[in-house]
Amino acid sequence: MLQLDSSLPENEFFRDEILDSRDPLRHLMDDSELEGIIASDGLARPSGSLSELLTVLPQQSQSVHDGLLTLSFAHTWPSIPSPISTSLVVDAAPGCGGLAWPAGQILASYLVQRGPDYIRGKNILELGSGTGLVGLVVGALRDAKTWITDQAPLLPIMKQNVSLNKLEDKVIVAELNWGSPIPADIPRPDIILAADCVYFEPAFPLLVQTLNDLSDSKNEIYFCYKKRRKADKRFFGMLKKHFTWKEARVLDDPNRQIYNREAITLIQLFKIN
Ligand SMILES: C[S@@+](CC[C@H](N)C(=O)[O-])C[C@H]1O[C@@H](n2cnc3c(N)ncnc32)[C@H](O)[C@@H]1O
Repeated sequence: MLQLDSSLPENEFFRDEILDSRDPLRHLMDDSELEGIIASDGLARPSGSLSELLTVLPQQSQSVHDGLLTLSFAHTWPSIPSPISTSLVVDAAPGCGGLAWPAGQILASYLVQRGPDYIRGKNILELGSGTGLVGLVVGALRDAKTWITDQAPLLPIMKQNVSLNKLEDKVIVAELNWGSPIPADIPRPDIILAADCVYFEPAFPLLVQTLNDLSDSKNEIYFCYKKRRKADKRFFGMLKKHFTWKEARVLDDPNRQIYNREAITLIQLFKIN
């Protein structure tokens, strides 16, 4: 964690810019966010109040045994066993994506509530999957294939988690670096998912480019993010050149206010033609 020094400008915006260039992940991993991080349960848990969030997410429970995190998503869909239990190896060594971030849990929970009929037969692609949580939950919900993608250092943990959940037939791990051409073996997705991918300013234009490259007016994009700092606005400034958005929610979701209070928002993006 960097200390403020007198050589930094007083203007908060410019000071942030300089500090971000020195330590791009400082907002993701600042002191308050490190509180409790993977210490006992493998969850990235930014604050005390977010602990509340994690325990009240719709019928979701968590347990940890020997460093393995299990997240359970209860539901009432008759065609699939309840709860959906997803086991995750978490490991901060390959980067922040090796932890399970709250936005990913919220997005996974949202998709479980939407249910299997909604996603049946659709090509689904997750960007910046990290441990793979969201894609693994989607994989457990249905028979069609789901692509979970990230940068090369995260691929081993994602593969490990796919095997752990016996989803090799349904969930495919692929390298996809934002801003790079979409690999030819990744089919055009009907649904694009991304959770907690707004945190590193140099990657903002790359993420916007990839969202733009992957999408057309037909596919649906669910984007769950935690607002951390003023500079996040720049991401949305770039995004609005190509997309509009609206908040996505399941009707009567009692947890929405809780995660909004934690500055986590789930939005659906729409490509501007
Ligand atoms: C904060 S983590 C969120 C992980 C996961 N979605 C979750 O919610 O738990 C951000 C993820 O974005 C990925 N990422 C960052 N920059 C990327 C890039 N340029 N291309 C692809 N993935 C990237 C990281 O590797 C990491 O897995």
